[in-house]
Amino acid sequence: MDDCANFGGSDSKGRLLNLRRAKITAVSHYLPERRLTNKELEKIVDTSDEWIFERTGIRERRVVAKGQATSDLGAAAAKRLLEQRGMDASEIELIIVATVTPDMFFPSSACLVQMKIGANRAWGFDLSGACSGFVYALATGAQFIASGTHKKVLVIGADVMTSIIDFHDRATCVLFGDGAGAVLLEAAEEGEQGIIDFILRCDGDGGQFLYMPGGGSLNPSSPETVAKNMHYVHQDGRNVFKFAVRGMADISEQIMARHGLSASDLKLYIPHQANLRIIKAAVERMGLHESQVAVNIDRYANTTAGTIPICLSEAVESKQIQRKDLILLASFGAGFTWGSLLLRWEN
Ligand code: ACO
Repeated sequence: MDDCANFGGSDSKGRLLNLRRAKITAVSHYLPERRLTNKELEKIVDTSDEWIFERTGIRERRVVAKGQATSDLGAAAAKRLLEQRGMDASEIELIIVATVTPDMFFPSSACLVQMKIGANRAWGFDLSGACSGFVYALATGAQFIASGTHKKVLVIGADVMTSIIDFHDRATCVLFGDGAGAVLLEAAEEGEQGIIDFILRCDGDGGQFLYMPGGGSLNPSSPETVAKNMHYVHQDGRNVFKFAVRGMADISEQIMARHGLSASDLKLYIPHQANLRIIKAAVERMGLHESQVAVNIDRYANTTAGTIPICLSEAVESKQIQRKDLILLASFGAGFTWGSLLLRWEN
């Protein structure tokens, strides 16, 4: 495997470029305080703790306080990250917020995070990739480091899924929660690998199985769209499950094969946390031991773009990840979108 921080590429005219790899230099997360347990959900819809835990692996999830929005969660995660790195917000040059639940259509949640943390030299944008949003955003942010355009890029995965969930629909309301994670990208030093590679995919044919039909340009909000519950998540769970099992395992195996890696080379596999059974299917196919797999779905459920950076942050906090460990991120979500990203932890 190439272990040099500078690697060659070429532009559209075939001119050689001297690209620099990106690495994650800090990671943090924020979860709202309020816990909503399966037992409490039993009082809201016709469900049971046993059903939810057996089918999904979820025990409880976090829910925002009234008035708390995606940019608040993202800004809280970012502030913790800046403290940890001992860095002023003015050093950040770009903020990417992966989310499907922005505070509003516009301004972007990235602009709101920029204001809330005082990143007065940054520009930013939101990225919509659903559950793959963080992996998409990490790969995107890394390009601005690789090209030398920016030195410090803040990548946030944040969602307030409870804002688009119908708490009368037992098939969806038990699955999701609210939360955010943030990472800082900087250039890798000579001899460091940082972000090594990624494979990203999308397939719009999957849109029919998981979507929120109302409120966009196709079905602008109206009393009728609200009466039809079009402002909530609609999901054909069985079909999403089927595609997710195959998609996440395939893309994880592909990136491992591309780098000649076997299961024992990985320190930690951080899959998107949508359903423990989807995670187990991928893990089984890859031949990983359960100690190599990050799982926190029991405590936070599916926080969409938040799951992977929250897992990463908890793994770093608990010292499960050490310098030079090889880590694989993998995701599958609405779109369909899916992806894998291989990195070496360099801190
Ligand atoms: N409590 C009790 N019973 C329930 C509940 C519930 N909360 N929800 C559904 N059921 C019932 C159904 O009504 C059905 O009853 P029936 O057989 O009488 O019709 C039965 O349980 C089985 O329903 P299924 O939908 O077949 O259950 P399944 O085993 O597929 O589990 C689940 C459902 C958990 C949603 C699963 O399909 C899943 O995890 N799908 C993937 C979700 C996902 O990965 N989403 C992608 C990410 S989200 C994003 O990108 C924004």
